[in-house]
Amino acid sequence: MTAVGIDAIEIWTGKLKLDLAETFAPEKGEDPEKYTKGLGLHASSFPDAHEDIVTMGANAAHRLMDRKGLTPDDIGRIDVATESAFDNSKPVSTYIAGCLEQVYDEDFHHANKGERKFACIAGTQSLDDAYNWIKAGRNRGRAALVVATDTALYARGDPGEATQGAGAVAMLITEDPSLVELSTDQGYGSADETDFLKPNQQFPSVDGKRSMQVYLARMREALEDYESVAGASHPEDFAYIPFHTPFPGMVRKAGLLGYRHMIRNTSVEEELAEEIGLQPREEDYEDREAYEEAIRNHMDDLKSTAEYQEWYGEVIEPTLSIARQVGNWYTGSVHIARASALKSAAETGVDLAGERLLVGSYGSGAQAEIHAETVRDGWKDEIEQLNVDEQIEGRYDLSFEEYENVHDRHNHDKTIEMEDFTVPDEEFVFTGRGRMNERL
Ligand code: CAA
Repeated sequence: MTAVGIDAIEIWTGKLKLDLAETFAPEKGEDPEKYTKGLGLHASSFPDAHEDIVTMGANAAHRLMDRKGLTPDDIGRIDVATESAFDNSKPVSTYIAGCLEQVYDEDFHHANKGERKFACIAGTQSLDDAYNWIKAGRNRGRAALVVATDTALYARGDPGEATQGAGAVAMLITEDPSLVELSTDQGYGSADETDFLKPNQQFPSVDGKRSMQVYLARMREALEDYESVAGASHPEDFAYIPFHTPFPGMVRKAGLLGYRHMIRNTSVEEELAEEIGLQPREEDYEDREAYEEAIRNHMDDLKSTAEYQEWYGEVIEPTLSIARQVGNWYTGSVHIARASALKSAAETGVDLAGERLLVGSYGSGAQAEIHAETVRDGWKDEIEQLNVDEQIEGRYDLSFEEYENVHDRHNHDKTIEMEDFTVPDEEFVFTGRGRMNERL
């Protein structure tokens, strides 16, 4: 069976930076460590005046096509995943294709274009759609382009304000891919939830604390559903576990939940039993409350064991390095988590070819998907092409007053005047809603 998966990836961060410890915390009267240690975030990315979800997506896609030597004729499908769309009719993929057609002699008339919406999980759903399209043999030798692009904003003063971010991830899905092969081992956890939603509004109505509970509940269901297909998973099965990362503190909780689930009835649990006891079982407790209290205590004990900390340091921590600097990218978030992990392996000389990843995607509203991937032989050459560190380093550092202007401009759909903070260079730029973006 031919392998299908991600052949190449490109990342485009919004060019403005809000430093959470230096700039945000003093204005909010908060201890900087609430952000850097508690949430695990150092900075957020924002789009400059000449950027929006279309230009960020088109710039990531163009860099990817350019690097791989592709033209529109090589691509049979363009799916854009976003929860920041500004058009209720035309999909963002048509705007992005329109940008790309300005720099190629060919057009994308043959390509099937669409827009996927299910909060942050839509990027992974688009990957699944592309995988199924190729596996079904409907691609006629062409590749699929998946772009996850978002400007993730919360109302000023909302607890979510510290977790904002903006950027795009472009992924090329092909047969015989260089980066990772997607597997059919996949599980879901899904329910109708109202903890985070945006009915005809720019900023989400969000119950932050509840949203964390929903994330964990759906992720647990997805893991159980995945195991019903793939068999029980164990902590040593996966080189990395990239999760959807609204902020790294959320992944700290998801990682612990996953570990606790995976060591159940294994030799790891037996080894830890003397130190912290066995995992509590509901039948041993009089009521649900007592059982939940016992679980909380057990989780706290588990978290402090050397075994867990070593596993977390190797398998989860490397997935968080980009998110710590850019914040939540909604649909792109789990894909920058995968990129962070592969980048870390390349930088530390780990040979990942043939190793497996377990990818935990999540979208509010709510749905989680767990699926496995296998790293391909060409992964290192591919991942070393990313210039994301350079982009992060090159962002313009906003003052708090500048941040407030940028935030207002995005809230008012870019109708507020704002000067560029950075100089665009050979890239697509925003020229006004309803008008074609231009390439400089
Ligand atoms: N030093 C170190 N740590 C500190 C600290 C300090 N001085 N002050 C606080 N902390 C810790 C807290 O103990 C807490 O950690 P734990 O959860 O491990 O206890 C952490 O910092 C955050 O502090 P608070 O809980 O007090 O933070 P908050 O209530 O102001 O905001 C939030 C947290 C509600 C999640 C908020 O960020 C939010 O609403 N975010 C948006 C919603 C979201 O991201 N939900 C995640 C799941 S939904 C999803 O994933 C979809 C999506 O992309 C949105």
